[in-house]
Amino acid sequence: MPGSMAARRRCAASLAGDRNPRENMSSSRDRREGGELILDIRRFGDPVLRKPAFPLKKITREMLNLADNMLETMYAAEGVGLAAPQVGVPVRLIVVDVGEGPVVLFNPCVVRSAGEAVAREGCLSIPRVTGEVVRADRVTVEALGLNGHGVRRIEGEGLLARALQHEIDHLNGILFIDKATNIVEEQADE
Ligand code: NI
Repeated sequence: MPGSMAARRRCAASLAGDRNPRENMSSSRDRREGGELILDIRRFGDPVLRKPAFPLKKITREMLNLADNMLETMYAAEGVGLAAPQVGVPVRLIVVDVGEGPVVLFNPCVVRSAGEAVAREGCLSIPRVTGEVVRADRVTVEALGLNGHGVRRIEGEGLLARALQHEIDHLNGILFIDKATNIVEEQADE
């Protein structure tokens, strides 16, 4: 889920390659200071975005590395959330940061929701498109404990609740445009 209209516009421009395509290619291969990689974000039409993702039995080093790379990729795209299928890996892993620090969740599941809110949202996999989506205003999400067992529970409201619901939908092959009304597609810059 993108961060803001402005961020979305910048992101869409860089993903569409209408700056310098060579620069985009090299940045997608960049190894960051911490060793993280910027991953390619799959776009609408890629079948991986429509497949239910697999639950993780345990949290491996490989999955922790993937989470780090997803966070780096999300920050580079100025987004506030990213789900593993969006980088081509069909596992139940999401990362979210709405400005309160990174949240990494394995096998996340909404166990309680309350209230209702409507807001315009977008998706890093569907550049330039936004729509209004009705979602719960508060959610409780349970996920696998970071030590690989037990349950981790987080509560969110407002933008955090929205981002969590949007990213968890990705794990079920659901995209925000399936639920959105008043969908607007911005024209690409000439
Ligand atoms: Ni999305």
